[in-house]
Amino acid sequence: MELLNRPRRLRANPVIRSLVRETRVSKDALVYPLFVREGTDIVEEIPSMDGQYRYSPDRLDGILTQLIGAGVHSVLLFGIPEHKDEIGSGAWDPQGAVQQAIRYIKKKYPGIYVITDVCMCEYTSHGHCGALHGQVVDNDETLELLCKTALSHAQAGADMVAPSDMMDGRILAMRNTLDENGFSEAPIMSYAVKYASAFYGPFRDAAGSAPSFGDRKGYQMDYHNRREGIREAALDVEQGADIIMVKPALSYLDVVHEVSGTFDLPLACYSVSGEYSMIKAAAKAGLVDEASIVCETAVSMFRAGADILITYFAMDLARYIDEGRIG
Ligand code: PBG
Repeated sequence: MELLNRPRRLRANPVIRSLVRETRVSKDALVYPLFVREGTDIVEEIPSMDGQYRYSPDRLDGILTQLIGAGVHSVLLFGIPEHKDEIGSGAWDPQGAVQQAIRYIKKKYPGIYVITDVCMCEYTSHGHCGALHGQVVDNDETLELLCKTALSHAQAGADMVAPSDMMDGRILAMRNTLDENGFSEAPIMSYAVKYASAFYGPFRDAAGSAPSFGDRKGYQMDYHNRREGIREAALDVEQGADIIMVKPALSYLDVVHEVSGTFDLPLACYSVSGEYSMIKAAAKAGLVDEASIVCETAVSMFRAGADILITYFAMDLARYIDEGRIG
């Protein structure tokens, strides 16, 4: 056979395969989402998310020590308040779980980079991501609540804020608030392209944030749309976002790819709770090998163009990188 091209030449052994890899995966690119719950002495497993826990701020040492040991240095904090109200005022409480956790982490683990999710749904009694006007989330009124929340996170010492609400104009409003209050150096990671997704199911269980009526389709995106994602990202770039995000990840790799090719900002993708719990459940049922699936899906996100991966598997991935399974 006279074959000029024999792609198998570059697949002959692990060394050459690794030499020609097109996608390099680094622990530096991983962010671990962390649920902090108001109260003390709480470490409770989340029923919908096998292996994930809610922690009160005073009980974060174990998980943070593990993260540091694994080589994961960035966390994304979510708060679970004790009390909720119509406008979610717990979100900007200086004594709230997130604010306490930020202070705790920055004091005891200054090497950890603390990013905070900024949204109202965990704090509102109705579970929507902002203030209601009738049955509808009022955009401009919600901006004020979000800005107050982001500012309180920055004041507690957060390194970066990450608004996940999908209100129009929030990046500009938040940038202005942070700048006017002396936080012009705090970056904003925008959940720029966030779809209304059933993949958030386990998270809503974890955070008790399911809407009490209706759905989030009036603010989160319709999953039929790709160009709209580019438009959303463009708006956030114009408004001063430092990092843009696509969420969820696995069913949206086309969007990750297109956004990464269109904008020159760092791109994060968030492999969400449903992606995590589906893999956990399938592996538990003996249908797939968990480690192999975690590696393959994570690499697919980087291959699609993500620079940063937010994932509940961050610590597992760090281990797989150490073991040379991926990298
Ligand atoms: C808050 C928020 C959600 C997630 C991140 N921030 C839930 C939602 O929008 O309903 C989902 C994260 C996950 O599923 O892992 N708005």
